[in-house]
Amino acid sequence: MTGTARKFSFDTLLVHGGSEPGPGGATTVPIVQSSSFAHKTAEELEDIFRGRKLGQVYTRVGNPTTESLEKRLALLDGGIAAIATASGMAAITTAVLAIVRSGDEILASSSLFGGTFSLFRDTLSNYGIKTAFVNPTDLAAVRGAINERTRLIFVETIGNPKMDVPDIHELSAIAGEAGVPLMVDATVTTPYLARGADLRADIVVHSTSKFINGTGSTIGGAIVDLGRFNWQSGKYPHFAPFFSKYRGFAFTARVRKLMHKDFGACPAPMNSFLLSEGIETLALRMERHCANALGLARFLKGHARVGWVNYPGLEDSPCHGVAKRLYGGRFGGVLTFGLADKAEAFRFINGLVLARNLANIGDAKTLVIHPASTICSDFGPEEKGLMGVKEEMVRVSVGIETIDDIIEDFDTALNNL
Ligand SMILES: Cc1ncc(COP(=O)(O)O)c(C=O)c1O
Repeated sequence: MTGTARKFSFDTLLVHGGSEPGPGGATTVPIVQSSSFAHKTAEELEDIFRGRKLGQVYTRVGNPTTESLEKRLALLDGGIAAIATASGMAAITTAVLAIVRSGDEILASSSLFGGTFSLFRDTLSNYGIKTAFVNPTDLAAVRGAINERTRLIFVETIGNPKMDVPDIHELSAIAGEAGVPLMVDATVTTPYLARGADLRADIVVHSTSKFINGTGSTIGGAIVDLGRFNWQSGKYPHFAPFFSKYRGFAFTARVRKLMHKDFGACPAPMNSFLLSEGIETLALRMERHCANALGLARFLKGHARVGWVNYPGLEDSPCHGVAKRLYGGRFGGVLTFGLADKAEAFRFINGLVLARNLANIGDAKTLVIHPASTICSDFGPEEKGLMGVKEEMVRVSVGIETIDDIIEDFDTALNNL
């Protein structure tokens, strides 16, 4: 169902998009565990290398199991192509470095996942790429931070763990006026809350390790090209050879044929298989994640031991209006809340029975973590402030268990504090 798939609904594409019947009528995508692919003649292999003929060559660059996943991911976001990577960080690094070069600047949200923040601030700065961090919900500040060296705007759809919700439509307009692409990390929302095409993003990146996989079994990432950006402008001369040969697919071609090939962060075929299996149930899981997160947020809000709750689904959240408009009244499965202090947050986490204390989001199981002492422990008070990380804060990735069981687990741990 690759050629005619666009007429099918989102939920149908989750199950069928990009897949073809496997050998002997297999209904799951075959795991093609082969490093390379033989071709009958030298001429045929030359044609594939030169882009005159489609075909697989080497799993670092492409693989049939991975290709099936890529086709589905592209369809789900309304993109023209997708490239699957070994992790979400690999997707971000590969996609960003396809665009920016030494001397260029990135304009990034200050409320990013810690790994991305450190990639931009610590790693890329060593290679002459500077990042200006700005509050993405302050549109005037975003406009004011653009300069002649800016080559990319990067934001998360819902900041992890700050839970802020930038107006992606407004940011897309600002990026368009400035002639730079808008890259959006949609890990927390997934295409279920909004397709990249509907968000008007130029490029979407996902950590597929989270909700897209949904089982906590697999690390993966994806880059989706929405085919909207004009790479011909003078700001991106390094795209010229790709534009002249691949036209609207210039970005995908530069990523696939250069950055992805050179960095080598390809997914293992087995992981592409597991992600293809997981994604089939994304809509059902996300519906439950969203409903459970709203239920838990409302419960926490009413609990005497809880100081504050941050979830865009709560009507008094400053991001509620934007989130409602962009994501159709669905607000995702992640929330944060505050207790008295770090010691109390630790006691709460230690008192949970059902929820797991670990560094991940998007699993079917309910997960908790104390970000300040774990995933954000390398950052100082200033960066933690930018990312919305507080000492008394607990992050929850609300699972798909029965909501009454989740609430009872939290209620018991809170009442035992
Ligand atoms: C929003 C966001 N983007 C990117 C990543 C990185 O993804 P991965 O762990 O698959 O490399 C994460 C991981 O937690 C994340 O939460």
